Amino acid sequence: MVLNFAHRGSLTEGPENTLPAMKKALEHGAKAIELDVQLTKDQQLVVIHDHKLTRFNKNAKGLVKDYTLAEIKEIDVGSSFSDEFAGTTLATLDEILEVIPKEIVLNIEIKNIPVIYEGIEETLWSCLKNHQRLDNLIISSFDHVALEKMQRLEPGIPLGLLFYYRILKPWDYARQTGLEITSIHPHAGWTDKQLIDECQKLGYQVYPFTVNKMAQYHQLVELGVDGVFSNNPKIFTP
Ligand code: G3P
Ligand code: CA
Repeated sequence: MVLNFAHRGSLTEGPENTLPAMKKALEHGAKAIELDVQLTKDQQLVVIHDHKLTRFNKNAKGLVKDYTLAEIKEIDVGSSFSDEFAGTTLATLDEILEVIPKEIVLNIEIKNIPVIYEGIEETLWSCLKNHQRLDNLIISSFDHVALEKMQRLEPGIPLGLLFYYRILKPWDYARQTGLEITSIHPHAGWTDKQLIDECQKLGYQVYPFTVNKMAQYHQLVELGVDGVFSNNPKIFTP
């Protein structure tokens, strides 16, 4: 079965990475959700993709890491999407974990590049343990050192290696990390049959991002991917 991830919530359904967007994705039958985490100034895990808030509220200058959670909770990130979502604020990972049912596969991406969040792995680990949310989970990152830290904290936790740029033989790289990688998340633009086959031979699932057009989705499914990330879950409906 192909596992389709609602990317950032999904972001065509509501303000990306927020609770209303995730609730919409669930209403539309999403079985898997991807979200991004960062740390506030007071070390709280918030769910947001960009390192700045400006794209969601042009009055909110500066970096996520320079705001306390209380300050972030004052910022409306919904009005820029549509009036329907006016007053929506960023969610903490705690808030998300309270709402997303445990049978939904959750891919939590640690956003650790270029801003490095010292201690984000430990904070994430304790949050997941508090919520008993160590199943139906993939922790991914473009920062593979963060994945190594997660494995040290929780051996056996499913790890997804994110690759934006094309590299030679990512399957060999994955093996050589010595990490217990469960999936490879390559940019969809360079995901081809060889990559899929070689990764799967080594037991890695392949989840390319971000696939928004129906034609590309069907092409990748035909090539044998295990799932995709999409901003537009409508493409999953036949
Ligand atoms: O995890 C897949 C995808 O979300 C990675 O890229 O920049 O959308 O977080 P980005
Ligand atoms: Ca992401």
